[in-house]
Amino acid sequence: MIQNNKKWMMAVIAGTMVIALGLIADGMAKVKKGDTRPLSTENWMENVVKPHCGALKKEIAAGPKTDDDWQSLIEHAEILNETSYILMEDKRCPDGVWAGAASKTLRNGSDAVITAAKAKDVSATEAAFKNMTKSCKECHDKHKEKD
Ligand code: HEC
Repeated sequence: MIQNNKKWMMAVIAGTMVIALGLIADGMAKVKKGDTRPLSTENWMENVVKPHCGALKKEIAAGPKTDDDWQSLIEHAEILNETSYILMEDKRCPDGVWAGAASKTLRNGSDAVITAAKAKDVSATEAAFKNMTKSCKECHDKHKEKD
């Protein structure tokens, strides 16, 4: 009888621990992937953020001249601006560092790139791009695993 009680207690303790761990894992922000949607952060970074940020850098360095050149800058910056919202969705955001990098630095920086490109102001575009890309390091320093 004592043996059975012990087994029963052990089962209750083990069960409680499984439930507690499950709750902790569920409460944790996802970082690498959101809660319910399939998109991985790595996929968005590799296939959306990197190419659009790289194109912006190249096109700013080349010196935008035509209306099409400026429009292209605006379109890249719009996608990075939308990224600042996507990174905050689906329980992906773990803390204030992430939130600041995405919803302040990346969002305000890309907004400023759009405003400067609409005004066809080269130096303001360069400055805004520089500010926007501070968001990458700001978030990666804490949340991207070092290779
Ligand atoms: C709010 C957070 C956040 C911001 C802002 C952010 N990143 Fe990331 N980035 C991540 C995380 C997290 C990873 C690691 C994902 C993983 O490996 O699971 C990552 C990974 C990457 C990778 C590697 C992808 C791969 O294939 O392994 C690239 C490239 C990248 N980011 C580019 C950028 C650039 C460029 C910017 C700025 C314009 C930026 N990121 C801004 C969170 C962020």
